[in-house]
Amino acid sequence: MVGLWALLLPMASLHRLNQHGRGDAAVEGRPKLLLVSFDGFRWDYIDRVPMPNFDTVMEDGVMVKQVENIYITKTFPNHYTLVTGLYAETHGVVANEMYDPVLNRSFSVDTDSRYEPQWWDEAVPLWVSIQNAGGRSGAAMWPGSDVKIRGQFPNQFLQYNASVPFETRVERIIQWFSAPKAEAVDFGVLYWEEPDESGHLLGPQSPLMDAVIAGIDEKLGFLINELKKAGIYEKVNLIVTSDHGMVQLSPDHIIELDEYVSRDLYTWVDKSPVVGIRPKEGKLDEVYSKLVDANPNMMVYKKENIPAHFHYQHNPRIMPILLEAKEGWTITQNRSETFMLGNHGNDNTLPSMHPVFIARGPAFRQNYVKTFMRSVDLYPLMCHILAIPALPNNGSLSNVKDLLSREPTPTPPSTRPPAGRDSYAPLVGALLGVAMVVGFLVVFVKQVTLKQLPTLTHRRREMSQPLLQ
Ligand SMILES: *[C@@H]1O[C@H](CO)[C@@H](O)[C@H](O)[C@H]1NC(C)=O
Ligand SMILES: *[C@@H]1O[C@H](CO)[C@@H](O)[C@H](O)[C@H]1NC(C)=O
Ligand SMILES: *[C@@H]1O[C@H](CO)[C@@H](O)[C@H](O)[C@H]1NC(C)=O
Ligand SMILES: *[C@@H]1O[C@H](CO)[C@@H](O)[C@H](O)[C@H]1NC(C)=O
Ligand SMILES: [Zn+2]
Repeated sequence: MVGLWALLLPMASLHRLNQHGRGDAAVEGRPKLLLVSFDGFRWDYIDRVPMPNFDTVMEDGVMVKQVENIYITKTFPNHYTLVTGLYAETHGVVANEMYDPVLNRSFSVDTDSRYEPQWWDEAVPLWVSIQNAGGRSGAAMWPGSDVKIRGQFPNQFLQYNASVPFETRVERIIQWFSAPKAEAVDFGVLYWEEPDESGHLLGPQSPLMDAVIAGIDEKLGFLINELKKAGIYEKVNLIVTSDHGMVQLSPDHIIELDEYVSRDLYTWVDKSPVVGIRPKEGKLDEVYSKLVDANPNMMVYKKENIPAHFHYQHNPRIMPILLEAKEGWTITQNRSETFMLGNHGNDNTLPSMHPVFIARGPAFRQNYVKTFMRSVDLYPLMCHILAIPALPNNGSLSNVKDLLSREPTPTPPSTRPPAGRDSYAPLVGALLGVAMVVGFLVVFVKQVTLKQLPTLTHRRREMSQPLLQ
């Protein structure tokens, strides 16, 4: 019996933690959460130059070394995943450039089509959910946050304008968080275009990237300082992450589609390194057979054969043929196109595609490093912190619960029944319970060990062969 209670205690105290969290929310106002994305901040950039402000957040909070983001590892699909917990095939923003055959319309991040709700309405972003739950949200340029999704804008938001400096975005967000109680936002999202832009232009291996990365640390320092000045640094849970990483390209690693298939047979919808090919009417098999064995550095999938682990298939906006360049390669039609030295979009299991992740605040543990998480798990975690129900999603709170601060001293649950001495029934029940819990633990520990092992050895290999050499 004692053993059983010892095993059940943690569950009981978690249950109480939830109730406790909600109680606080009602009394002192809702928990606060600010989600920050530095576009294209690869996970290992922090080891490249001194990052005193990132270090402060990590020591004071948590860090996750490998965050597996979603396929395709592009900006819009991944930013929408962070606030919905859904794979791209389910949230519907499957690429930065899309064609929807049902709507017969095209989407591009560079045109006003990005403001059309129909591209976003397949999911509900967290800023809409918290408003539906009676809370308030504020958004500074996060992709999609200036779109009327499911009939709602964030309570406070900035129209996207790349020329608005980071500092201005921060000042606005802080104003919204520190407004009088009835107007103060509970959930904020903040987006900054760097180091993605420089990563594309210079390539991640360029020594010039060092200054860009150091500059991001200064930006985080500015944000921390402003939160402190406003007196809300200890109150606001702060998550700093990104959408994807970046890999070095080379002008010697170019795949020219014109060598293999005529442009008259298809249009290309999304571009390198993952290309959505829309064959002209009746030309699917011809285009596929011309491309399938064309180049060893390019994977070619018919939509129905896209590997299941990408979760990138069940949406009409995913094109009938998908091309993926191997890491470091560029797909073009011909060489007249502008060439970038860095890019992203590839296989989401590649470490080069993974983003940074650090967080601190009252909800988080301190000085804790976690090896691995999936970016779809962030959404249920944020819903938990904000004490609102999560909508159906592809993540799981239990995968990331260890990031949260624990209750100081767990005590036995008050519903504890008296010791079973009247009949055998309670004893038999308890023994069965112990057997089930032990069985569960054995399976669980085995699963965790099996899952962690490859990650750990992989990570060690990464350490001994840094990406950046
Ligand atoms: C789709 O839209 C284009 C214009 O964008 C038009 O030319 C074409 O006829 C439309 N196709 C169908 C099937 O409606
Ligand atoms: C974008 O922001 C810049 C800098 O604040 C400003 O000068 C410009 O007018 C803005 N553009 C639009 C279209 O609002
Ligand atoms: C590449 O394509 C462009 C059209 O996009 C064309 O003008 C140019 O001649 C082509 N260059 C080569 C080398 O084929
Ligand atoms: C992802 O979650 C959505 C919503 O629950 C569900 O419809 C979809 O099937 C899930 N996808 C996978 C691959 O489990
Ligand atoms: Zn980019």
